[in-house]
Amino acid sequence: MNISELVLELSDTIPDFPKSGIVFRDLTPVFADADAFTAVIDDLAARFSGRFDAVVGVEARGFLLAAAIAYAKHVPLVAVRKAGKLPGEVLAENYALEYGTATLEIRPGQLAPGSRVLIVDDVLATGGSSSAAARLVERSGYVVAGIGLVLELDGLGGRDRLSTYDVYSIVAERA
Ligand code: PRP
Ligand code: MG
Repeated sequence: MNISELVLELSDTIPDFPKSGIVFRDLTPVFADADAFTAVIDDLAARFSGRFDAVVGVEARGFLLAAAIAYAKHVPLVAVRKAGKLPGEVLAENYALEYGTATLEIRPGQLAPGSRVLIVDDVLATGGSSSAAARLVERSGYVVAGIGLVLELDGLGGRDRLSTYDVYSIVAERA
């Protein structure tokens, strides 16, 4: 079984979570399987091999992946966090949610100017989170080397919103 098939087999689909009408795609069973998790990390790292100097993880589920890639490749790890969690000077970007907006933040100045950054998250849906993270990386003076994801929900506009970036997902499925 290849890595895409493994992710599909292990991942769960939960209707009406966190609220009625939402079909939730849960990757925690993939993380809970040591072989699958290792294969996911290795696949994302290999896809962008030699092309990134640092990893940015998007709170919260992106942290699980980004930390492992940073450790495996021995490169710096920077956190993009939800509003109000990072101290000191931060840059902030708003992004749209189904209802209302949310904000992601980064502490600039933690990487060398011009660093090539791999942004990592678990799921691509509308692309709001990833595009906000990309803007934060660029406003910090870095270059977005790529965006790596485990699961892409097709048909929600994420790809289009990220059309200027090298986006890779292990599995893509119709939303
Ligand atoms: C989920 C998921 C991605 C994002 C994808 O995170 O982990 O980060 O949504 O959706 P988008 O492409 O429409 O932005 P969520 O904001 O639910 O928070 P969490 O990671 O902290 O659980
Ligand atoms: Mg998330």
